Amino acid sequence: MGRCPNCDTWNSLVEMVTEEKRGVRREGTSGEAIKPQKLSEIQSSLGRRIPSGLTEFDRVLGGGIVPGSVALLAGEPGIGKSTLLLQVAASIGGKRSDRPIVLYISGEESPSQIKIRAERLGIANNQILFLPETNVETIIGQIKELITKNSLSLVIVDSIQTLWTSDLAGVPGSIGQVRECAAKLLSFAKANGIPMFFVGHVTKEGGIAGPMVLAHLVDTILFFEGERYQALRILRGIKNRFGPTDEVGVFTMEEKGLSEVGNPSGLFLAERKGQIPGSVVTCLLEGSRPILVEIQALVVPTQLAVPRRVGSGVDWNKLQLMVAVLSRRAGLPLGGFDIFVNVAGGIKVGEPAADLAIALSIASAWADKPIVPQMVAIGEVGLLGEIRAVSQIEKRIKEAKRLGFNKIISPLVVPTVKEAIGLTI
Ligand code: TYD
Ligand code: MG
Repeated sequence: MGRCPNCDTWNSLVEMVTEEKRGVRREGTSGEAIKPQKLSEIQSSLGRRIPSGLTEFDRVLGGGIVPGSVALLAGEPGIGKSTLLLQVAASIGGKRSDRPIVLYISGEESPSQIKIRAERLGIANNQILFLPETNVETIIGQIKELITKNSLSLVIVDSIQTLWTSDLAGVPGSIGQVRECAAKLLSFAKANGIPMFFVGHVTKEGGIAGPMVLAHLVDTILFFEGERYQALRILRGIKNRFGPTDEVGVFTMEEKGLSEVGNPSGLFLAERKGQIPGSVVTCLLEGSRPILVEIQALVVPTQLAVPRRVGSGVDWNKLQLMVAVLSRRAGLPLGGFDIFVNVAGGIKVGEPAADLAIALSIASAWADKPIVPQMVAIGEVGLLGEIRAVSQIEKRIKEAKRLGFNKIISPLVVPTVKEAIGLTI
């Protein structure tokens, strides 16, 4: 039925497995019914995390892969999800036959396509096992066989949208199929202590039958994001039952795969050209990590009736607000100018802590004078033109000083934007 006879909405019906089948299947995989357990007797699996060998990846997970945990790696097609998980698999698996076994289930690419990628990544002689299969019952059968034979340590499913179960008639990728396949693999993972990673594609619009239907099922959701034509890739934890949710891992996509960026501030400031009007450095906090980034502004007389305000990496409303505050509270006549603001390196700035740097970069570009050397600006700007406190300022200041920025403009030293402009430009 295309249309719900009850509420009249189109395409809202989702196929589900009937109850009687479900009762049998949801028991422990070994067959016997599950009994209540005392809390004191339950074994915690947290202590035995498997390090993936990729520091940035482990950081987001909270220190490695928890046995029996199921994670969803979501991201737009082509962003590098398969590349990342292949590198993780290779790092855990290794070349020697006594290394743990990683099973890579590929519903999207043939083994030979993956071999080409592995050659590019320089991991072609790895012990990873490949299974080009999409039927979830067959996959579980294969995993069972591997468990009895040797030490299977990780299963990667690329992608969850290609799997199908014979219990349902819907096509692979439909909500019913995605949810049911994930649920089957999940209960198997929990019962056997095998960690699993599911790849899930999301589209720019958010994706209707997207992997987000799995959000409540899985233990961990990781988002892999970045701009297609820029090398920067950020791995973000959105949900994590076993660790922090606000950590990020920073990578760049190179000719030979993803490379970890241990010192992101260095990456973002690498191409900074020193004393040019409109350039101001600020310190963001991504998870627990302070990262220095450069805000760039360009202010030019406008040719249009309504001047242009263009932000890249900066929210447009935020940009409008900073311009309004500068006009009203600092007396800058910006009405006749086009204003462009950019965050160098392709990172997005969402934090209020960057407000002051945005305001100062516009002021510096307008005055066509560089700000004082070795300066970092940290602070939220309020509608009254006041500079407000931001979280963990000590940590940010420490990172700035570590990289040689010894002049810090923050709410600790100046109360208003107007005074900050006077002090720095
Ligand atoms: P991929 O992992 O296939 O993306 P996803 O699984 O998220 O769809 O990555 C595909 C892109 O990454 C592709 O456009 C080429 C690029 N890439 C590199 O730049 N370097 C590399 O070493 C690899 C393997 C891919
Ligand atoms: Mg892929």
